[in-house]
Amino acid sequence: MEMSFASVQPADRAQRTFAPMRESDLDEVARLESTLYDFPWTRVNFADSLIAGYCCRVLFQDGVLVAYAVMMCVLDEAHLLNLSVAGTMQRRGLGRLMLDHLAREAALYGAERMFLEVRPSNVAARAMYDAAAFQPIGRRPRYYPALDGREDAIVMSAELGEGWRAGSNEAWRR
Ligand SMILES: CC(C)(COP(=O)(O)OP(=O)(O)OC[C@H]1O[C@@H](n2cnc3c(N)ncnc32)[C@H](O)[C@@H]1OP(=O)(O)O)[C@@H](O)C(=O)NCCC(=O)NCCS
Repeated sequence: MEMSFASVQPADRAQRTFAPMRESDLDEVARLESTLYDFPWTRVNFADSLIAGYCCRVLFQDGVLVAYAVMMCVLDEAHLLNLSVAGTMQRRGLGRLMLDHLAREAALYGAERMFLEVRPSNVAARAMYDAAAFQPIGRRPRYYPALDGREDAIVMSAELGEGWRAGSNEAWRR
């Protein structure tokens, strides 16, 4: 997938740069992941995603890795497998920035829709996907491990390309 990784310069002058995830990022990605989830992906899960050729991206802010994502693109479908923002950097628009970046990459690849699963209990992620016009299209019973047993997954889908509801650049100011 061809994509430019030019830096973006928000109004707060922080330097934000998207880049392909590299082997050298895996320790930090796995470390962040372990702080964000009760059932985190392992370093091996991320390494396998690189080997499988999934679209694995990181976002650096002033040289610090602040967000990462893994997406699988097959023909006209993109499947978002992981999108995470470092705990101290949340609610600054970075999750939405990464989501919009992935949507552009997937559309360039030729994907027409993006799919994802999200926990019903994940209020932050659901609000972000709702704002991006993802629609619930199904439910996978007992899909996720949970501290008290299992939790369903809500399956969501959104149109890419012209149908994509891009986030506001307002978020970059924070
Ligand atoms: C979900 C996640 C990626 C959102 O990233 P973020 O950078 O904090 O989100 P943004 O600042 O871009 O917020 C975008 C929108 O999402 C919604 N949102 C984000 N966090 C929220 C929260 N804690 N509560 C309610 N709404 C929230 C808001 O609508 C927000 O827009 P607004 O700030 O203009 O109101 C982040 O919370 C995260 O990494 N969580 C842990 C990992 C995870 O659960 N990933 C998703 C797995 S499906």
